[in-house]
Amino acid sequence: MAQTTGPAGFTRQPIGKNRGKNRGENLGENDALLCDGVPLSAIANAEGTPVYVYSAAVLRERYRAIDSAFGEYPHQLHYALKANSTLAIARLLRGLGSAVDANSVWEIEVARTAGFDPSQIVFTGVGKSPAELERAVVLGVKAINVESAGELARLEAIASRLGRTVRVAVRVNPDIDARSHPHISTGLKINKFGVPLDAARELLGTLGSRPSLALVAIHVHVGSQITGLEPLRRAAALAAGLSLELRQQGFPLEYVDLGGGLGVSYDGSAVPSDAEYAGALVGEVRPTSLPIVVEPGRAIAAPAGALVARVIDVKPRTASSDFVVIDAGMTELIRPALYSAFHRIEPLSAPPSGEHHYEIVGPVCESSDVVGRDRMLPILAAGDLVAIRDAGAYGSVMASNYNRRPLAAEVLVDEGGWRVIRRRQGLADLLALED
Ligand code: LLP
Repeated sequence: MAQTTGPAGFTRQPIGKNRGKNRGENLGENDALLCDGVPLSAIANAEGTPVYVYSAAVLRERYRAIDSAFGEYPHQLHYALKANSTLAIARLLRGLGSAVDANSVWEIEVARTAGFDPSQIVFTGVGKSPAELERAVVLGVKAINVESAGELARLEAIASRLGRTVRVAVRVNPDIDARSHPHISTGLKINKFGVPLDAARELLGTLGSRPSLALVAIHVHVGSQITGLEPLRRAAALAAGLSLELRQQGFPLEYVDLGGGLGVSYDGSAVPSDAEYAGALVGEVRPTSLPIVVEPGRAIAAPAGALVARVIDVKPRTASSDFVVIDAGMTELIRPALYSAFHRIEPLSAPPSGEHHYEIVGPVCESSDVVGRDRMLPILAAGDLVAIRDAGAYGSVMASNYNRRPLAAEVLVDEGGWRVIRRRQGLADLLALED
C-alpha cells in the first residue's frame, strides 16, 4: 500500500521519485496525476485496469460543503445512493452524518448493511413493487415518497393489513423544465414521475380520513445535472407553498424534501455554488419554518472519482485523427453513450509537448461505445494510462457485464493509502448464477 501524503483530490504533480517506475508506459517528463497524493499509475499497476479510484477526502469535502452551505437552517442531507452505493462509500457518508435516499429495496438493504437506521432512509421510486413497499413498511423508514394515487392505495392496504401507520411523502410533479438532458429531466408533466399538482391536491385531500397513512412531507425532484438555479428554486417554491397550505389544513408536516439535482461542472463551465444552491432553497422554504431535506448524489460523488483505463491500441481514423482504444467503455461508464455526456480524459503522465486529435473509444462491440469525442490530447501510445474524470457518480452503479466484461475493481484512497473496496469480478463471478 502506498503511503504518500499530498494535497486532497485529483492533482498533477512532478513525477519525482515515481518517475520511471512503470515500465511499458509512455511516461511523460513533467507531471503525474495523483489522487490525494497517491499516483494513479501506482494504483492501476497494482490493481489492474479498468479501475474506479475514489478520493475519500473529496467525498468528505463535498458532503461537508453542501451540508454547511445550509448553515443554521434546519436541514438533513439524504445522499442519493443511486449515484454510488458501494458499501465503503455509503459507510463513509454515514460517518459524516448523512442519511440516504434509496430507490429500490436493494438500496435499502445496502443502506442497512452500511449501518443506516430505517429512520435515516427515504424510499423513492416510480415502480415500487408490493414486496418492496411491504419491506419498507415493516422496517419503518423515515418516509416512502409516493408517486401515484395507485401506489398510495397499495401502500395503505399493506399498512392496514400489518396494523401499521406508514409515514408518507407525496412526490409532486411540478411541471418544471429542469433544462437538463431529456433523459434525466423528471419534473415535466410528460415525465413519468410524481403526481401533477392538481391531482396531488385532490389526493392529499383524502388523507385526513385514511388513518394508516401519515403525511410527513411534500417531495419534489425535477431532474439531475441541473446547472441553473431557477428550476430548483421554482420547485422549492412550489413544495413550500403546498406545505404551507397543508399545514393550514392541520397536517403536521415534519420537513420539505427537495430531492437532488445539483449539477457538477464536467467541462469547466459554470454551475451554481453550494452557497447559491442552499441559499435559493432556504429562501423559498423559510416561510414554512420546516426543515429541508435534500437528496444530493452527483454533487457529492462525481468529482470524487476517476475511472482509470489503459490504452490498448491507437489506430488511424481520418487523415488528421486517430482512434484510441482503451480498456474501459460503456460497460464501465455509460454516460457518454447514453447522454452524450462529456467527461474530461487525461493521460496520467503527459509528455512535455505535442498534441493530437483523438476519438477515445471503448472495447465494446457497439459504435456508440465512445468515451470521448473529438479530443485534443497529448500523444498517446498503447500501454499508456488515462483517467476519465468525475466518474464517481453514475459510473460503477450503471456498469454492466455486456460482452461478458467483468465489473471493474473500485479503490478508495484515504489518508495517503488505498484499499480495494470492491474487487474485480472474475470468471467464477460471471458464471455464479448459471446452470
Ligand atoms: N432524488 C431522486 C428522487 C432522484 O431521482 C435522483 C436522481 C436524486 C435524488 C439524485 O440526483 P443527483 O443529485 O445525483 O442529481 N444516470 C444519470 C442520472 C440519473 C439521476 C436519477 N435520479 C446520469 O448519469 O446523469
